[in-house]
Amino acid sequence: MLIKTMAGVLVVALAAAGSAVAAECSLPPDAVAGKTVSNQCKACHAFEADKPSRPTAPTIHDVFGEKAVVRKDFPKYSEAMTMASGKGLVWTEDKIFDYLADPKAFLTKFNGTDLKNAMFFQLKDEQKRKQVIAFLKAIKGKPECN
Ligand code: HEC
Repeated sequence: MLIKTMAGVLVVALAAAGSAVAAECSLPPDAVAGKTVSNQCKACHAFEADKPSRPTAPTIHDVFGEKAVVRKDFPKYSEAMTMASGKGLVWTEDKIFDYLADPKAFLTKFNGTDLKNAMFFQLKDEQKRKQVIAFLKAIKGKPECN
């Protein structure tokens, strides 16, 4: 009986250890570099899957591959972003790449009209853009990565 109980405890302990390992974030190398780049975004954006959007910007943990205007808890999307979403803008690699270089120019071109945009930040460096996109792609659906 005692042995059975101890075996039970051991199974529980192993299961707990197993889930702790599974919850560790592992990223491909380009995404690891992108995590460093994402520090520049963190002035405004939260990257934790379970964090609400900050007043400054929407949480973007799961933005990759989604239609623009992802977060219902961010009330301040600009006119330009709202229109682009209505026109079907989806955050693929190419779209994020162009958006980050110059958000206003990107949205003006996408919409065909120059409306107010809200992201006053540009990331010109191509490699850093590719890396941060690799990071966004890798963390999508993985709450243990941020
Ligand atoms: C100065 C603050 C600021 C910084 C820094 C910033 N952003 Fe943003 N970002 C915003 C705001 C505000 C919006 C909403 C834009 C709008 O509505 O026009 C936004 C929107 C976005 C969106 C679209 C979100 C959605 O819900 O559709 C993506 C993707 C994004 N940012 C990525 C990034 C990445 C990646 C970085 C870093 C490389 C970054 N941003 C840096 C403020 C910022």
